[in-house]
Parts: sequence; structure tokens; C-alpha cells
Amino acid sequence: MSSSPETPVIEVQALKKRLGTQDVLRGVDLQVRRGETCVVLGRSGCGKSVLLKHIIALMRPTSGRVLIEGEEITGLPERQLLDVRRKVGMLFQSAALFDSMTVEQNLAFPLKEQGIRDPKVIKERVTEALDMVDLLGAESKMPEKLSGGMRKRVGLARTVVGRPRCILYDEPTTGLDPITSDSINRLIRRLQKRISVTSVVVTHDMKTAFHCGDSIVFLHEGRVYFQGTVDQLRASTDPVITDFIEGRSGDAD
Ligand SMILES: Nc1ncnc2c1ncn2[C@@H]1O[C@H](COP(=O)(O)OP(=O)(O)OP(=O)(O)O)[C@@H](O)[C@H]1O
Ligand SMILES: [Mg+2]
Repeated sequence: MSSSPETPVIEVQALKKRLGTQDVLRGVDLQVRRGETCVVLGRSGCGKSVLLKHIIALMRPTSGRVLIEGEEITGLPERQLLDVRRKVGMLFQSAALFDSMTVEQNLAFPLKEQGIRDPKVIKERVTEALDMVDLLGAESKMPEKLSGGMRKRVGLARTVVGRPRCILYDEPTTGLDPITSDSINRLIRRLQKRISVTSVVVTHDMKTAFHCGDSIVFLHEGRVYFQGTVDQLRASTDPVITDFIEGRSGDAD
């Protein structure tokens, strides 16, 4: 199916997912337009990572649909899913680098999987990706020698090296100090501007949400409880939202 400029790049329709005995997603609807960064907030365990896994087709819905650039990906055979995963890159919560490979080899890996063999092209693309995350010169380093923040950046470089149209970020700043977190937030914005990427950012970090979000979605009890701009989120007086933003548990002392 062809997609017009108005077609959302990512569209989730009435997505339900049952895992074991738990209805994790109970009808999630979401649209992300081209070039937009959508931030997904919600309590731990509410299904944010599960939602991302559906957008990259690592999980299949119990019911509902996911469309990428107007094309339904739900139920596609594995071979065609490889094309989807080429369009949609994901930065996993753990960065998931190969520890036995250098930074350069880590970045070359997805390119080789895409069938790119020319060493010159690979070198160019790896350099371009490392430049985007301010890590030129780190090519021969081993991941275990890198700090948490640098690993995240290498993970991000590996996500962008395949030139995806969409990037999904799962907790990109968790476990990082505030300054390193700030540099990751800036990188997310920079990638959005430089390569016009469409993104979904799952986070608990309100700084990330306020810095990166063009739109904000708040997941609660398996559904989209709130969707709006950063300003609308800040203006909310709903205790479910304000307790989350201000980090109040609601438990008695
Ligand atoms: N493969 C699985 N099998 C069974 N249950 C699962 C599976 N993956 C996730 N779950 C359950 O689904 C729920 C949502 O999990 P998910 O990882 O999406 O939460 P989350 O919102 O990303 O939380 P966090 O903020 O802690 O990362 C949890 O109760 C989790 O235990
Ligand atoms: Mg998660």
C-alpha cells in the first residue's frame, strides 16, 4: 500500500495483548506522524515495552493492528518482517551490544545482515553513525571498556546505522547520570532533526519527556489514558497524571 504524507508513519489500532493470565494491553490506539517524537509514559509494568515490541513485530497482538507507513505488519510472514525491522530500529533497554566485537564490528553487523558487503560503504556508514553520537575514534574499543553512557550511544549508533525511518527507544536514559541523560536527550532531538526520523520514546524520565516529546501518551490500565502535548500534560490536574509526574506513590506512610 502506498502512503501519503498524511498517513501516520506508526499507527496502532485497538491493540490487545494477553500474556499468561494478564490482559497487558486492553485496546491501545496510537498514531505518530512523520518526523514526530511521541513519548510514552506509564507506571512500571503497565506494558510500555510490550507496546514497543508490537511496533517492531517482535510480539504478535492477541487482537488489533499495527501499521507502519500505512502497511499492516500484523500477521506478516517472518521474511517480510525483516523489511519492517529495516524501517524500524529499536534501542533496547539494555543496549544489547555484542561484547566480543569491537564498536566498529557491532555497527557493521546490522549492515551485513542487510546484505551490504562493500567494506568502503560499511566504513562510511559506520563513521556517519558514530559521528551522529559524537563517538568518532571509538571504532576499535570493546563494549565492556565503555561507560554506561557510551554503551547507550554505541547502541544508538547501531540503531541508526541501518538508516531506519522510525526509532523506538526503550528507557534511553535509565541508569545514567543527569548530565549523560541530558546528552542522550539532545541526541534524540538531533537525530529527529538531522535524519527526520519518526520516534517513540518510552521513559520514566520527565526530563526526557519534556525535552523530546512532540506528543505525550500516558498508558494506564492497558489503555491510552492521556494523549496531548507537553503543555497539556503539565497543565493536567488529574491525580493519576500529577502523581506520576511528581513521583508520588499514593501509599500511606
Ligand atoms: N514475555 C512475557 N510473558 C509473560 N508476561 C510478560 C512478558 N513480557 C511482559 N510481560 C508482563 O507484561 C507486563 C508489562 O510488561 P512491560 O515489560 O511491557 O512493562 P513496562 O511498562 O515496560 O515496565 P518497565 O517500566 O518496568 O520497563 C508485566 O506485568 C510483565 O510481567
Ligand atoms: Mg519496559
